Amino acid sequence: MTRSENTEWNPDDYDLWYEKEPGKTIDLIETECALSLLLPINGKRVLDVGCGTGNFTKKLSCLGYDAVGIDPSDEMIKKALKKGLSCTKGYAENLPFDDKSFDAVISVAAVEFFSDRRKAISEMLRVVKKGGKVVVCFITGAWAKYYKSKKSGALLKANFPKVEDFLPFAEKAKFCLRSKPGKNVDFSNEKTVEEAGFACVLIEK
Ligand SMILES: C[S@@+](CC[C@H](N)C(=O)[O-])C[C@H]1O[C@@H](n2cnc3c(N)ncnc32)[C@H](O)[C@@H]1O
Repeated sequence: MTRSENTEWNPDDYDLWYEKEPGKTIDLIETECALSLLLPINGKRVLDVGCGTGNFTKKLSCLGYDAVGIDPSDEMIKKALKKGLSCTKGYAENLPFDDKSFDAVISVAAVEFFSDRRKAISEMLRVVKKGGKVVVCFITGAWAKYYKSKKSGALLKANFPKVEDFLPFAEKAKFCLRSKPGKNVDFSNEKTVEEAGFACVLIEK
């Protein structure tokens, strides 16, 4: 199963991916990578852009942050709300929040679906406080090729970025998911120099 087998996001299928292997281990590997750039945060209020069913929003809440998610999919948001998370409907390109209203902003595996990536990044930078972090994480390398080759599901609409696309804004980048699609996904592969399948870039305001 891929991250979604349906042409529109299906929240139950989506969450199932995180509950079974290889999704379970991939999630742990990607979470460690994302948090290594995001933490520490100077403050408590964090925005999760393209939050889906709230997978990362929930992790931030569990860590004690005042996490808010935003996503355009009614179905995904409905499921996130059922988990007791604070989520709202909206697009990355037009965030319904005041300037400098968050201490940090994260976006996980969602930039691939934004219609205007530059606008979305400028919106994330607008809503974060001065000195705050914006972390954008996305699928890349062999995993991007694998999802493209599936030719089905909501991932059909994905436009996988290259790390170079972020070079004009990024301070730092971290890479992970060095296990290849179809092979055993294992933390021990993270110590190798294999091509990464997931990248996180840090943009500081
Ligand atoms: C692969 S899911 C990632 C969900 C979540 N971040 C996670 O890590 O589980 C991609 C999400 O991006 C959302 N999305 C698509 N276009 C978007 C946009 N323009 N602005 C914000 N989110 C968007 C989709 O609705 C979907 O929930």
